[in-house]
Amino acid sequence: MKKRDLINLEQLSQEEILRILGVAMAVKHDVSHSAHLLKGKSIGLLFQKPSNRTRVSFEVGISQFSGNCVYLGPDEINLGVRETVADVSKTLSRYLHGIVARTHRHEDIIELTENASIPVINGLSDLYHPCQGLTDLFSIKEKLQRLEGVTIAYIGDGNNVCHSLMLAAAKTGVHMKIAAPAGYGPNPDILQRAIELGQATGSEISVTQSPQEAAQGANVIYADVWVSMGQEDERDKRLADFQGFQINKALTDLADPNYIFMHCLPAHRGEEVTAEVIDGEHSIVFDQAENRLHTQKAIMNFIFNTW
Ligand code: CP
Ligand code: NVA
Repeated sequence: MKKRDLINLEQLSQEEILRILGVAMAVKHDVSHSAHLLKGKSIGLLFQKPSNRTRVSFEVGISQFSGNCVYLGPDEINLGVRETVADVSKTLSRYLHGIVARTHRHEDIIELTENASIPVINGLSDLYHPCQGLTDLFSIKEKLQRLEGVTIAYIGDGNNVCHSLMLAAAKTGVHMKIAAPAGYGPNPDILQRAIELGQATGSEISVTQSPQEAAQGANVIYADVWVSMGQEDERDKRLADFQGFQINKALTDLADPNYIFMHCLPAHRGEEVTAEVIDGEHSIVFDQAENRLHTQKAIMNFIFNTW
């Protein structure tokens, strides 16, 4: 059986995505679901950047599946510096049964995957965050009871989280309006692919520079930080360039009255979102964070039940 990896959401069919969401719901309601899936298996978490949700939810999920977790932080492996990405990948394949990798460069995830004889899951790169994108779909479906026809207003940086959400939306008939300042829109190639994928499902993906236009009538208002990990040197410029893109009450007042507010977290109150919105009654951010655990267990089920 060929190994399965999760590098970005383009590689999953709509049917596979919906199957993963269904298993996520089953594991959420039954913690003993697939309790022996990873018995006798060790999964490495190879992280070049900090993490709360991704690391902890994978560690707990692996433990609930009776597996063993090996955390490899930036100081242990020093990917591509202490030794090549290919050598790291080939070596880890001799010890482990799977790798969850968080890297700076998306190319490193691809190189790890191509050189690994074991499954690799992308735990965030500069281009994508597929575990987040699947969790976001799961959370929307859980809260709004549907996906098709839902409209997400993503307001902020056209970054890794935005890219995975775009692809997730395009695959499942969800509309997405992205509002970003000039120069901070999504990667044009990924945007084009999402638009094309959306033609098969009826999903419309569009980009504007007006947060108000995006928020108008939206079912979901979505935020991420303005300064992603690795962009700390650009902080002052970014904070200036994103003025006017804060999600506050004036903006959410334009959304559907039953809108939900989502944020992948970590959040910076007073920057991309006000405390009033993120801590308010429409916010589902901690349910969304919890759902990382259930969705990633479903992803591991998809990958390891055939491996
Ligand atoms: N949303 C998310 O991936 O959070 P962490 O960076 O804390 O893992
Ligand atoms: N865009 C953010 C997401 C963090 C989960 C970053 O890459 O830092």
